[in-house]
Amino acid sequence: MISFDLPSVTKLVAHRRSIKPVDMDASRPVSKELLEELVECANWAPSHGLTEPFRLHTFYGNAREKFAENLQQCYKAETSEAEFKQEKFDKMGKNVMLSHSIMAIVMKRGTNPKIPVIEEVQAVACAVQNMHLAASAVGLGLYWSSPAVSYGDGFKQFLELGEEDQCLGFLFIGWPKQGFEWPQSRRSPATKKIIWNE
Ligand SMILES: Cc1cc2nc3c(=O)[nH]c(=O)nc-3n(C[C@H](O)[C@H](O)[C@H](O)COP(=O)(O)O)c2cc1C
Repeated sequence: MISFDLPSVTKLVAHRRSIKPVDMDASRPVSKELLEELVECANWAPSHGLTEPFRLHTFYGNAREKFAENLQQCYKAETSEAEFKQEKFDKMGKNVMLSHSIMAIVMKRGTNPKIPVIEEVQAVACAVQNMHLAASAVGLGLYWSSPAVSYGDGFKQFLELGEEDQCLGFLFIGWPKQGFEWPQSRRSPATKKIIWNE
């Protein structure tokens, strides 16, 4: 049986970080081969009934301009005048262009009504986590962002999703800028999250 060194696995899991677009170098290409390898990791995610519901609508390189434009349009269309902030509108477009590529994370609803929607969503999150771990392992920055517009109808139309499909947010992708220090994070003790029954 193949066995992996558990401390190394734990180390990778703890090393995974969200890297913000502002810390990415958009001019440094992320190869399609690498993205495909990350998606291969996503592909091994579990899903109830092996529905494999994750889809990644990828806006590679220059295609992110179209994405940024649509993001801003949706924000404008779906935000009341009272809540609309020009600063947020500008930042939305800018952030997209700070990364090299973007993936819209999609749950493609399967045809088996016995599988609850929540389980399809959970399976997509597992897929993203697999990808994120692999990206962090090679020092590639990923950032899962879920602005209100990512859940809205405008984006659903833009991505040409089916009625029961859902967009679950966006993954910003890019190599960190030169000199960027991979961040540390913290968590409250894991032992507090186990409720033992013996
Ligand atoms: C489903 C999901 C949605 C998220 N959406 C956002 C978001 O909209 N904005 C944001 O700043 N971070 C978002 N994050 C990233 C979290 O802020 C981040 O994972 C958390 O701060 C922990 O940092 P780490 O990933 O580096 O450990 C999201 C993460 C998940 C799992």
